[in-house]
Amino acid sequence: MQSKPKKTNIRANGHKASAGNTDVSRTKLRERVKELTCLYGIAQVASNPNLPLERKLKDIVQLLPPAWQYQHRACARIIIDGQVFQSPGFCNGERRQTATICIAGRNRGTVEIHYRNGRSLLKMNPFLHEEQNLIDNIARQIALMIEHEEDSAIKAELQKQLIRTDRLAAIGQLAAGVAHELNEPLNTILGFAQLAQKTPDLPLQTKNDLEKIADASLHARNIIRELLIFARHGKPGRTPVNLNQIIMNELKLFETMCAKSGVELKRVVDSELPEILADKSQLRQVISNLIVNALQAMPDGGTLTLQTSFDASSVKFVVEDTGIGMSDEVKENIFLPFYTTKDVDQGTGLGLSVVHGIIASHKGEIFVKSEKDKGTRFTVTFPRQQETVSKEYGI
Ligand SMILES: Nc1ncnc2c1ncn2[C@@H]1O[C@H](COP(=O)(O)OP(=O)(O)O)[C@@H](O)[C@H]1O
Ligand SMILES: [Mg+2]
Repeated sequence: MQSKPKKTNIRANGHKASAGNTDVSRTKLRERVKELTCLYGIAQVASNPNLPLERKLKDIVQLLPPAWQYQHRACARIIIDGQVFQSPGFCNGERRQTATICIAGRNRGTVEIHYRNGRSLLKMNPFLHEEQNLIDNIARQIALMIEHEEDSAIKAELQKQLIRTDRLAAIGQLAAGVAHELNEPLNTILGFAQLAQKTPDLPLQTKNDLEKIADASLHARNIIRELLIFARHGKPGRTPVNLNQIIMNELKLFETMCAKSGVELKRVVDSELPEILADKSQLRQVISNLIVNALQAMPDGGTLTLQTSFDASSVKFVVEDTGIGMSDEVKENIFLPFYTTKDVDQGTGLGLSVVHGIIASHKGEIFVKSEKDKGTRFTVTFPRQQETVSKEYGI
């Protein structure tokens, strides 16, 4: 008789326990489903190739609050490189859970879930252990997504550079061919024009006409000379060169012009600048081309700055103006031969392509930074590894 109630008890307890377990499992399951929905949503946004990164982060931040236990109190914020993305109605809460967004070993920002203040939540820790795992996981997903986007951007830029270099090389070959072909007949025209000029008792009209022919031929020959330098295949001369000295000498030639057009000259040179092995006359040409462009960009005056500096691996010089600047389209094309935005008598469009060719043949690099109506800065770097250059050129 005594055993009966015991049995019932056990059964009743057992029933109660299993009902409780089912509730816990249900809650857990519900939380799991919320987490998975959130992660799935993030994966979908991250893998959409049509969305820019900013839009992706804006979308992702909205997916976060519903995955937390007290979703109606939750709001989310993603900070990346100082840029902030928030879920609608975001406000700072005292209770928050965070994870660091770490990309290539660098902390770039955080993912945060805040609970808007409520008394019940203030008393306890309202976050589940699983939620910390979830937010860590989300931070990792965001880091991967950004890393992937940045890699793709670098690849696209490299590809663009390669295409541009290829195009320049092809144009260079073409230009060299044309220049060689034209050089001969042009010299003949010039030679005969100059010979004819020496004929005694020429009528004035003929004398003037011959002068025009000779001038035009000289002009054409200069263009061809520049083209040949641009397309030059032979190795340029190499002697130790002090860039500071070349810059100072070149600037002297432009001082009067600067004063006339209201351009202030600034020289910021490093007196310790090491020498580089280079072709002196070509470097002169680089610097004067950059200065002429800078002055042409400042018809109403401004400031022209020439700066030299160096580090362990390179020697650098900068030519900067406060002139008209360039649009993106102009910037894309400046190194192409014959690309010019100037009137016929102002430019041939060969200057920067020659500059580019010379710098490339010195294994250097040229960078341009320009903003419309603000100004332009050309930065040129040459390698300092003298030993390798010396070996290559047998100096
Ligand atoms: N400092 C500068 N500021 C603004 N635009 C520039 C500057 N340097 C070059 N450019 C642009 O690049 C073009 C090409 O320059 P370049 O090859 O020297 O040819 P050119 O000077 O004969 O036009 C110029 O026509 C101009 O549009
Ligand atoms: Mg020019």
